[in-house]
Order: sequence, then C-alpha cells, then structure tokens
Amino acid sequence: MKDHLTVVKHPLVQHKLTLMRDVETPTAVFRQLLREISQLLAYEVTRELPMTTKRITTPLKSMDSPTLEGRKLALVSILRAGNGLLDGMLELIPSARVGFVGLYRDEETLQPVQYYFKVPTELDERLVIAVDPMLATGNSSVAAIDLLKGAGAKDIRFLCLLAAPEGVARMKEAHPDVPIVTAALDEGLNELGYIVPGLGDAGDRMFGTK
Ligand code: URA
Repeated sequence: MKDHLTVVKHPLVQHKLTLMRDVETPTAVFRQLLREISQLLAYEVTRELPMTTKRITTPLKSMDSPTLEGRKLALVSILRAGNGLLDGMLELIPSARVGFVGLYRDEETLQPVQYYFKVPTELDERLVIAVDPMLATGNSSVAAIDLLKGAGAKDIRFLCLLAAPEGVARMKEAHPDVPIVTAALDEGLNELGYIVPGLGDAGDRMFGTK
C-alpha cells in the first residue's frame, strides 16, 4: 500500500459506521455491524495481495484463472476489542493464522504493559494485519507493532474502524512503514483519551460491559 493512511469511503462502510456510532444501537446490532464492516475493511486491506493463475476447466473449456499466490497471512488481534474485527475477517480469510496481543495501561505511568503475546510462527514471511477498532492515542498500537516487529514481522498493516489524528501522527512517527486502513478519521481525542465524536468504548459497546 503506498499511502500511510487510507480512509475507506465506501457507502456501505459509512452507512454501517453511522449506525455503530449511534448511542441507541444495541449491543447485538453493534456486534453484527462490526462483523459486516470488518469484512468490507478486509477487502480494502488485502487489495494488493499477490495473484497468480491456476489452470482450471469450467464446464465449457479450460482457462488460466486468477487465484491468490498463497502469501502467508497473519491476523493479530489487539485485545480485547480487536476480536470484534477478527471474527468477520476470519470468515473471509479462513486460512489466515491468528495472533493475540494483550496490553493494559499502567495507571501511574500511563504506558502500555504487555500481559499476553501469542503469534504464529514464521512471522517474518507473513503479511501481518494487526486489528484494533480504535486508534486513539496510538500508545497501545505503537507498543503492539513494536512487539510484532520484535517477533520478526516485517510487512505489517494496521486496520481500525476509527482513527484520531493524534494516533495517526504517533503511528506515522514510530512506524512510518505500517500503512493504516480505517473507516473514518475523527476530530480528535477528549481529555480521557476517547475519540470524538467516536462511538464510545468499543469493547464495552461490543461486549455489553461498562
Ligand atoms: N478506545 C475506545 O474503545 N474508544 C475510544 O474512543 C478510544 C479508545
């Protein structure tokens, strides 16, 4: 991908996002919309996967037909909200390997602390798509990408639903080689680090917690 930031303006993505932002949208509908939108975003983030052809025979004749070259893929969910994007993407790319990065914020230092890290082998040979619905301050995203690079990943993309300009700038500074795909670039962050206008806490909205 040549651009550092891609905002997917497709009408279906934007329509679903509006429904997800609405505070009246219930948990079950929010989760379903997230699954649907994740597949539309997956379409964009995998747009340039290498292709080859395969000789097949249709009921009418033989042809060389396009097929994925078979590039190894890893989807990495940044817990816990990343799981909401992961499920839909796995339906579309069932052979992808899956990793998880768990980070929490130390309330004193405000820095992300790792509590879980499990990723597929041969990360250096894979296209790694890290998923987290909200790119807010960028602190946890940058830390997650640091960990993935430490584990050998060389070709990484970051997929989110909403991004704040602060998070995009932080990612660009720390990881200029990692393209970001998102459904919207919002106004900014409030004093609590929430994206405005945003959609609230993505984890709470998808899991019904508070
Ligand atoms: N995480 C969320 O879930 N929502 C925000 O607005 C920011 C970070």
